[in-house]
Amino acid sequence: MSDTTFDFTSRRAFVTGAGGGIGHQIACELADAGCTVTGFDIQAKPEPFPPAQGEVRYVHGDVCDAGAVAHAVAEAARDGLDFVVNGAGVAFMTRDGSVVDVDMDVWERTLQVNLQGPVNVVRSAVPHMLRAAKGGAFVHIASVAGARSMDNVLNAGPLDAYQVSKAALISLSNGLALTYGRDGIRSNTICPGAIRTPMTDAIYEDPDRISAMENRTPLPRLGRPQDIAAACLFLLSNNASFITGIDMMVDGGLTAKLC
Ligand SMILES: NC(=O)c1ccc[n+]([C@@H]2O[C@H](COP(=O)([O-])OP(=O)(O)OC[C@H]3O[C@@H](n4cnc5c(N)ncnc54)[C@H](O)[C@@H]3O)[C@@H](O)[C@H]2O)c1
Repeated sequence: MSDTTFDFTSRRAFVTGAGGGIGHQIACELADAGCTVTGFDIQAKPEPFPPAQGEVRYVHGDVCDAGAVAHAVAEAARDGLDFVVNGAGVAFMTRDGSVVDVDMDVWERTLQVNLQGPVNVVRSAVPHMLRAAKGGAFVHIASVAGARSMDNVLNAGPLDAYQVSKAALISLSNGLALTYGRDGIRSNTICPGAIRTPMTDAIYEDPDRISAMENRTPLPRLGRPQDIAAACLFLLSNNASFITGIDMMVDGGLTAKLC
């Protein structure tokens, strides 16, 4: 529960990754704040999904399928589209590695989901926003790994496919911010640090890894999906109306620390 209550009544949002830890939390908190939300995810709808108030429509689909994305966005934007959250993502923790020798199927799928997926969403959403001429806001869930290089704790080596995909997502967001600011469309990224979700369960099922991460983090705990949702709702809201083109680290201070 955040300290700020947002009112997104009569706003419409499209949220990818809505079946996962962070995207699900964002979709639910948006709907709780009165927003009409379309969630989009490759996995089946998690239960319980419906928040206390608001409406959430859940579409089962792959962000890499440009046609499916265009169709889902068009449905979501039938009465306008205010917010888009690119939350879907993959990290092949046990198979990612150095760009020099990582399996090309890992490289390609990571770039497909984490970069081409958001590209498909953006290409579908922006024309609807421009037609409505009411502006809008994007939040892309990147990663601290897109801003800094980091080791893959599950593979004792680099995480090049993942970090390259997230660095590119940050760049995509900056490009949107520059191009569409005059149309009232804002675009920002959130770079989460270590957040406990299904994506990181395999890492943090080991309590020693939790302690190690807590010791590395100035605010010594793992993050929660609620920490990311709070930042996301702020960036979407009018409270952030002069904020575009930023990468907001929500990482407990992890990236502020040199070693
Ligand atoms: N958990 C962390 O520590 C952490 C840190 C930094 C960044 N992130 C990013 O946050 C975002 C959310 O991750 P999460 O931690 O909630 O993980 P998660 O695995 O719980 O959620 C990711 C969701 O994306 C969906 N997805 C994957 N491929 C898809 C596709 N092709 N089409 C549609 N949906 C697809 C999954 O089904 C899943 O529901 C991701 O982009 C991730 O890279 C997470």
